[in-house]
Amino acid sequence: MKLWAGRFQKETDTLVNDFNSSIQFDARLYKQDIAGSIAHAQMLGKQGIIEEHEVESIVEGLKAILEDIEADKVEFSVDNEDIHMNIETLLTQRIGDAGKRLHTARSRNDQVAVDTRLYVKEEIPVIIGKILDLEEVLVEKAKEHTDTVMPGYTHLQRAQPTTFGHYMMAYANMFKRDVTRLEDCLERLDECPLGAGALATTTYDIDRFATAQALGFKKPTDNSMDSVSDRDYAIELLSALSILMMHLSRFSEEIILWCSWEFKFVDLDDAYSTGSSIMPQKKNPDVAELVRGKTGRVYGSLITLLTMMKGLPLAYNKDMQEDKEALFDAIDTVEICLPVFAAMVNTLSVRRHNMERAAAGGFITATDCADYLVKKGLPFREAYMIVGRLVNLCIKNHETLDTLTLRDFRAICDLFDEGVYEAMSLKHCVNGRTVYGGPAKESVLKQIALIEEFIQQR
Ligand code: ARG
Repeated sequence: MKLWAGRFQKETDTLVNDFNSSIQFDARLYKQDIAGSIAHAQMLGKQGIIEEHEVESIVEGLKAILEDIEADKVEFSVDNEDIHMNIETLLTQRIGDAGKRLHTARSRNDQVAVDTRLYVKEEIPVIIGKILDLEEVLVEKAKEHTDTVMPGYTHLQRAQPTTFGHYMMAYANMFKRDVTRLEDCLERLDECPLGAGALATTTYDIDRFATAQALGFKKPTDNSMDSVSDRDYAIELLSALSILMMHLSRFSEEIILWCSWEFKFVDLDDAYSTGSSIMPQKKNPDVAELVRGKTGRVYGSLITLLTMMKGLPLAYNKDMQEDKEALFDAIDTVEICLPVFAAMVNTLSVRRHNMERAAAGGFITATDCADYLVKKGLPFREAYMIVGRLVNLCIKNHETLDTLTLRDFRAICDLFDEGVYEAMSLKHCVNGRTVYGGPAKESVLKQIALIEEFIQQR
């Protein structure tokens, strides 16, 4: 029999019963639901709304249910719709009348809101921990490769020389922002909606500050209608996770390019690659590709929630039940992608020689060649034009800037002397860029120190 059978003259259609229920996916909120109910019952007792002996049997009953769920001894039913009603029904079956008093001054609307917030509050630190593990991998790689020269690209065209260490720290900085975004989200969601009731609180003298404190929230939410109709925290989390996945996806794309034979800058460890069922020569970067692919599904979750919420009048609407699958899927996806990705990066090996050869081949020191003339007194625009002509000459004659003779250089501008070769050497070009944030070893070491400090503070 449904909880609401008194109002109804017919049973719920079986299709509707299945359609309406969320227990298939909200069962994972059982721990939060029980914690919320215990806090609520104890507050009701303290306020004299229910008897102390009832509180005791409710709390004991809920703890026993928790144990049984964790021992896989409980079967939930779609007839009880969701995790909230499943647990309440089970409690009443077990302890009788006291169980029927638990829902005093409460609604599933504030219940589901508090459960989901509690869940997200637990998962965000887990995700942050996994990002910090990845940061540690990046810092180690960067330390190993402060001298590994490679081309930096714009438009995927070789642009200026950098190092693999500098490259790794670029990603480390993106992931650092992901951490702080998640921390911001955590800070803002740290308010307890319990006690909002269905939407307009209650006439019982409940103590929302007590339940907020008991559940580890900073304070109760300030408006009861907002409390039960707000899913901003889930949307904020999904935005932060989408941005995080976007970073992982860009990194994946680089790794996929780098381990192609066209680049061959890195080799993935065999344990983090897969073969082909038909082509014997293949070693594929499936992990990176899957991370790139799964980015789409996390974006999908964000769009699901934004779209689901955009037309909802206050306060609770059943549409909001749709938040959970998207939210859980995104959290699960991120939590599996991060450690696999970190391990893949940790075990990849770098082909320094190929990186350096690519850096030598694409005129990436042309800017430095122009700067050399500028240091001899030429305005940059003129120097730029002269080096452009030199590059053009090289392309025609299948040469690179450093294979041109001094006579070739001087034929175009007589300010050139022997020093131009040193000015264009890759080492000089990288190590001369000691500007804050730059690729020179000393600059990258500073970037590493900053990220290490950031990790340590957490
Ligand atoms: N299963 C519901 C959800 O996830 C719980 C709240 C239901 N409230 C209601 N009045 N139908 O949103």
